Amino acid sequence: MQLRIHYTLALIPAIFAACTFNSNKQDTPANPTFAEHVAPIIYKNCTPCHRDDNIAPFKLTNYTEVRNRASLIKVVTATRFMPPWPADPSYSHFIGEKVLTDAEIATIGLWVDQGMQPGDTAKLQPPSTWDQPFTNRKADLVIAMDKRYIIKGNNTDNFLVMKLPYKMAKDTFVRFIEYIPGNRKVVHHVNAHLISYEPGKKINGLDKTVWANQQDTLAGEIHKTIGLLNDDGTYPLMTPSVSNYLPGNIPYMYPQGIGGYRFKANGALYLNDMHYGPTPIDVSDSSYFNIYFSPKAPERPTGEFILGTLSTGKRAEVTPALIVPPNTVKSFKAEKIIDKNISLLTVIPHMHLIGKTFKAYVLTPQGDTINLVRINKWDFRWQYFYTFKKMVKIPAGSRIVAEGVYDNTAQNPNNPYSPPREIRERDGSMRTTDEMFQLICVYVNYKPGDENIPLE
Ligand code: HEC
Repeated sequence: MQLRIHYTLALIPAIFAACTFNSNKQDTPANPTFAEHVAPIIYKNCTPCHRDDNIAPFKLTNYTEVRNRASLIKVVTATRFMPPWPADPSYSHFIGEKVLTDAEIATIGLWVDQGMQPGDTAKLQPPSTWDQPFTNRKADLVIAMDKRYIIKGNNTDNFLVMKLPYKMAKDTFVRFIEYIPGNRKVVHHVNAHLISYEPGKKINGLDKTVWANQQDTLAGEIHKTIGLLNDDGTYPLMTPSVSNYLPGNIPYMYPQGIGGYRFKANGALYLNDMHYGPTPIDVSDSSYFNIYFSPKAPERPTGEFILGTLSTGKRAEVTPALIVPPNTVKSFKAEKIIDKNISLLTVIPHMHLIGKTFKAYVLTPQGDTINLVRINKWDFRWQYFYTFKKMVKIPAGSRIVAEGVYDNTAQNPNNPYSPPREIRERDGSMRTTDEMFQLICVYVNYKPGDENIPLE
């Protein structure tokens, strides 16, 4: 079935009614002008998406463009509908947080109410350009889609899986893998994993890009469909979450000494979540990855575990089973005991369309609670990777708890079915009309002093 999601302002008050935010002691200027007060807020928080060839539907790159949308901007900032940042900043903080302070919101509001004074725009620096490749270094290897994917102009979201294989002369090490969207107007979200083939295990299917639409593919079949398995049908090694993209995000690399990968001569990048947003006209995309090698093996390679759907580890299943009857709002939980000291780097909450709220925290054996992430209004379109500002020490014996609430009523505007039908987890099916409940945690083994290491 096709998904069609409507974005309307009418929903905004309901979406944000439940949120609470830190107040901010900064002052609001009495007579804000665009040049002095408003432009710095907009250029930093809005322009990364609202500019030429990016995901947002219109530009906010100069005085005239901002003035033309001023009253709408006042509404979407006051309601915190924009900029999109689902994680609640009164619960925990992350790198690249996109949250306006109360003073910034008040400044925009006052500027609109006072007639949008331009100020001395001649002196204003134009917004900087983002999305420059991450390092100034030329990539050591480029792994590209070898054909264009056509996104039909039917205003529906497209969710794909893709395999981008590569072949090299010998094994090496990699410091960083950077995704470069071919078409920033439609690429909404990418999550890539690294597949490593042992020598001789995979001869076939290493020569071309293969994709499949998640909606059209049966659960459990998708890896076979795109030829991801070894030639004998066994599973190759997968290093999860090596690259992630969301519009407006600056690519992020862990500090020196943390992260990095072993890179087999034969392998592939596996995009298990390639989300193209809706478009009214046919467009195409041909994305690629820049790979930056490292002369040595990773010192502290990251590990990953999953709570919930497809959980890695016995005690982390969704309870009760993830079945959401029609016309109900229902809560679920997944828990995992950690048996060694770890340092948590990044958390990734994951649900599909009818997700409503998400919360994850840690209960330590010493009786402390460590907040991880709280999302008061789940929005499947903004699947962020949340990296903590400092490593978070989780002592051995701690219990990680993830709680999720799903809304399968007709009042949920993102409900894919009308009238509502039973929605459930299906064998790890990634179809958006099936559900998933996951907390993905990226960590390194703990070393004394980790909790003081900034990740920024
Ligand atoms: C991460 C990308 C991103 C950032 C950052 C962002 N926007 Fe948006 N904005 C979008 C997208 C995409 C849409 C289209 C609607 C949607 O997907 O929710 C949108 C829609 C809008 C709309 C139209 C809302 C409607 O319902 O008609 C306004 C107004 C807006 N943004 C203003 C802003 C302002 C002001 C900021 C900064 C304070 C901002 N945006 C930051 C991506 C972004």
